[in-house]
Amino acid sequence: MIPPTISRIVLVGFMGAGKTSVGRRLAERLGWRFFDLDAEVERKTGLSIEEIFDRWGEDRFRVLEVEVGNLLLVETEAVVATGGGWAASPERRGELPAGTLSIWLRVHPEEAVRRAQDDARARPMLDVEDPIERARELLIERTPLYEAATLRVDTEGRAVDDVTSRILEILETHGMEFDPE
Ligand code: S3P
Repeated sequence: MIPPTISRIVLVGFMGAGKTSVGRRLAERLGWRFFDLDAEVERKTGLSIEEIFDRWGEDRFRVLEVEVGNLLLVETEAVVATGGGWAASPERRGELPAGTLSIWLRVHPEEAVRRAQDDARARPMLDVEDPIERARELLIERTPLYEAATLRVDTEGRAVDDVTSRILEILETHGMEFDPE
């Protein structure tokens, strides 16, 4: 259910779904602040995501990701782009705080890998011989958890502005006001 008053929007979904780009754009359009969970984890640790995986491993990264995510989930008038594993993390339990609208940005594995490869940021989870196969496996595991989001928006073949406009359209239909461009 869409919360009656939306204090924050959390974007979930696989790597390459466009969470960071759409989140930044959405925040701009709403006049809200934007937070990127990976960037916050990097800022707090002084290490890149790749370095965290290399030095401490995935399990430690998941703990950090949830800890830092919890700090962001108290922000209001904020759009939070999570990392692709956050919604599915075993470290993350329970409901999102009241006033949180979660949106799943959906992408297919082939497109996700293509976009991730075009992006300068390293994706340790896809650093394997067959990243598409890995993406398929991860998506099978994670899809039920992404599906728990309140809204789903398909991003396949759609530009950042299109996806953002689609989200704003849905919000408008539910009576939410924002500054039109
Ligand atoms: C991960 C996704 C990445 C980053 C880390 C792990 C994942 O974020 O958190 O590399 O497990 O799906 P993006 O979804 O922003 O690429």
